Amino acid sequence: MKNIDIIFSASDISGRMKGLAKEIALAGLDNLLVVSILKGSFVFAADLIRALHEEGQQPEVEFLFLSSYKGGTKSTGFVEILRDIDTDVSGRNVLVVDDILESGRTLDFAKNLFEGRNARSVNICVLLDKPVERVKEVKVSFTGFDCPDLFVIGYGMDYAHKYRELPYIGALNP
Ligand code: IMP
Ligand code: MG
Repeated sequence: MKNIDIIFSASDISGRMKGLAKEIALAGLDNLLVVSILKGSFVFAADLIRALHEEGQQPEVEFLFLSSYKGGTKSTGFVEILRDIDTDVSGRNVLVVDDILESGRTLDFAKNLFEGRNARSVNICVLLDKPVERVKEVKVSFTGFDCPDLFVIGYGMDYAHKYRELPYIGALNP
């Protein structure tokens, strides 16, 4: 598509996935529960769990539907649970998986949620780290790529509900 600049190609992403899965496997998190934050991380999580399988891991998978964006490109600053997970996390090693760490509000909320439910550990894995807009300091254990301060779309990420289907990560030209 001519109005989209490719930031990370499909092969950049698949190349990084293997390294990320190796790092996670090396952390030795037994009985791992992967929690994919919806909607944005569903494509990333789907690739990541299959890469984890290649590294000998057998994660369970859950989905936590959170919302802080209301359709535009700016966060509202308020995070709410639209749909909770079904699994009891107490005593479990939880790996929270999200597409982008930007203000940090979403992942700060998710980490506090699972720590409050007595998870044994809560680690965070993000595909993209966009450090410029950070409001809450969040410790991330596993990062796919450092991301320039652009609004990105594709590979599960949307702008106004569109572009999630793109196999690459791109930026919309103004
Ligand atoms: P945070 O709470 O500000 O860290 O925002 C994290 C969430 O905002 C991510 O899970 C994304 O769903 C969304 N988000 C942040 N930046 C972008 C972007 O550039 N494109 C698409 N979604 C984004
Ligand atoms: Mg999101």
